[in-house]
Amino acid sequence: AGKGGPKHFLHIDDFDKKAVLQMLERAAEVKAVLKSGNRNYQPLQGMSMAMIFTKPSMRTRVSFETGFYKLGGHAIYLGPDDIQLGKREETRDIARVLSGYNDVIMARLFAHKDLLDLAHYAKVPVINGLTDYNHPCQIMADALTIIEHIGHIEGIKVVYMGDGNNVVHSWLRLASVLPIHFVCACPRGFEPDTATVERARNAGVSRIEISHNPLEAVRGANVVYADVWASMGQKEEAAIRAQRFKGFQVDEAMMEAAGPQAYFMHCLPAERGVEVTDAVIEAPNSIVFQQAENRMHAQNAILLHVLGL
Ligand code: CP
Ligand code: NVA
Repeated sequence: AGKGGPKHFLHIDDFDKKAVLQMLERAAEVKAVLKSGNRNYQPLQGMSMAMIFTKPSMRTRVSFETGFYKLGGHAIYLGPDDIQLGKREETRDIARVLSGYNDVIMARLFAHKDLLDLAHYAKVPVINGLTDYNHPCQIMADALTIIEHIGHIEGIKVVYMGDGNNVVHSWLRLASVLPIHFVCACPRGFEPDTATVERARNAGVSRIEISHNPLEAVRGANVVYADVWASMGQKEEAAIRAQRFKGFQVDEAMMEAAGPQAYFMHCLPAERGVEVTDAVIEAPNSIVFQQAENRMHAQNAILLHVLGL
């Protein structure tokens, strides 16, 4: 859509530091309004959002749908069998048709290219609800959660443990904008995309490390972060990955190696007993459910931002 077109939310570093911090502040403000029980704040009144899903979801669907509703608007869920993106109809046609009915489009897709195409042809803002490449709404919610618990995000050490996947790419893109110390500890062969790592390093904002030594990497972490070892679309690789990821499970010994200041985070859904133990996810310093709730609040702020409200 280019200059003068709609403002999309596709990658965190499409926005500068000021805009990212503004969205996080707005998220906290709107969260406080909703938490107070006040239902009179209805900035999305009369608006609608189309939500395209080609993958399963609990958090993304429910947080977007209820968030949009709580702020006065109406959200429409389109599951894998409804639109059949690229099969029943071409992405460029879908983009323009949905733009005629809706004020905003949210999409959760496999190929990132499909999201970029959708945004290119849409006449309204497009929000990225996860692709194989990244998951920016998740990391905005994570940043909000970190600010709530630690007081700030700048300067903290985040150690991500596991597969160098879409969640890691969004951490790296956040690190291109906000100064953090980000470590991705992963087995050899499961590193994040090289270009994305270079992009984060070249931004010169954050300290970025890739490590193959989990117990050394976690030392002094403010946050130890896990995600599934086999993402959506990779589930047939689960058994082989479980072999390759031995030593990368976040267990009590690993949290102890991190230190008493460390919080545990996970974007969920979690496979308990695989990438994280039951004890770690249930421990008092685990903030996974706060993260999940904050998906809604972060996204409300993202929606208001791209809609210019
Ligand atoms: N974290 C997250 O995006 O969850 P869902 O896959 O349930 O939406
Ligand atoms: N990396 C995971 C995140 C799920 C929210 C996946 O893509 O399946």
